[in-house]
Amino acid sequence: MGQVTIERLRARGSVKWSATSGDQLGAFIAESDLPLAPAVTEALHAAVADGLTGYLPAPVAAATGAACAAFQQQRFGWAVEPGQVQLLPDVLGAFSFTLSHLVGAATPVVLPTPAYMPFLELPGALGHELRTVPMDLIDGRFVLDPARLETALAGGGLLVLINPHNPTGQVATREELLAVAAVVERTGATVFSDEIHSPLVYSGAQHVPYAALDERTAAHTVTAVSASKGWNLPGLTCAQLILTSAEHRQRWDATPFVSRHGTSPLGAVAATAAYSDAGVAHLDASIDYLQRGRDLFAARMAQAPAIGYTPPAATYIHLLDLRPAGIEPAEVAQRTGVLGTDGTACGTPGLLRLTLATSHAVIGEIADRIAGL
Ligand SMILES: Cc1ncc(COP(=O)(O)O)c(C=O)c1O
Repeated sequence: MGQVTIERLRARGSVKWSATSGDQLGAFIAESDLPLAPAVTEALHAAVADGLTGYLPAPVAAATGAACAAFQQQRFGWAVEPGQVQLLPDVLGAFSFTLSHLVGAATPVVLPTPAYMPFLELPGALGHELRTVPMDLIDGRFVLDPARLETALAGGGLLVLINPHNPTGQVATREELLAVAAVVERTGATVFSDEIHSPLVYSGAQHVPYAALDERTAAHTVTAVSASKGWNLPGLTCAQLILTSAEHRQRWDATPFVSRHGTSPLGAVAATAAYSDAGVAHLDASIDYLQRGRDLFAARMAQAPAIGYTPPAATYIHLLDLRPAGIEPAEVAQRTGVLGTDGTACGTPGLLRLTLATSHAVIGEIADRIAGL
């Protein structure tokens, strides 16, 4: 990673490097500059050489479902049946599918904030009421108040649980998840558990799949996972929906084929390779690099104590609280050339979200510019 230059990254042209120029540094989108896993590259080369560029064949999809289930078991001790795994192009599409086909048409969406930006927009776009539940920032940790959650879920609803969390980088503890589960059970709600970032957990934290807590959570949860963040494959479009509720599986079967169609066969091949032993070894090396980048960023931010910052326990997403420093997030791009995401888009003004899946040199440069504000 150390040898990758900004010129090379711009020439390759991911969204963040092609949308920026001059001394601008893009940190607004969850794309990674880290090298692809060789296991993924080889599997893709072989699939392209074989001409696997038509629609998704059932055996290719089944292999991905089995690989996803095995990864969940090995990494998190969650016994997923391969038959419970279904493929959809992406996690946001899986969320839309859940709203359109797995819950009732009038189901309100309950979203703790701050949150990943599209979850604030999609419910309304699909005709569902959105109820946001602001989390409290207590000693550097965003905490969900169970009483506030219960009020929002009164009469049922679809709770969007993002874990590990974007944008806070937090990993929910088993106790926090059990407290959520108690409220969900009392209100008869359903959970959409977005666990797209679960492969990227740093040492010291442990991801607990929400549906794996117990039979109750398995029965009221739709879980979405993907190799998209851990292995940087979002452009290949293959998310996995884990349906642990028999009712949800029946509804899945009853939906028109066209609504479950469109996953890329190359994405499925890439995901299967990502979840293989070689793919997971590469993931572990990526986590090690990202964790050292996180520590480097944290050390520099410690020199800017007016900016609130808790290093993420997972994800390469870093959240800064600019309110104590009296800095407007909207000013940051102009003053520093660092393009992050204004917390207003996440439902919490005053925060700045930065995605730092890049070289330590670029992370150091971003940290210096932010600390110098
Ligand atoms: C929490 C979360 N959910 C969903 C997505 C989008 O995933 P996909 O591209 O699979 O829709 C992202 C992308 O950054 C994310 O961070």
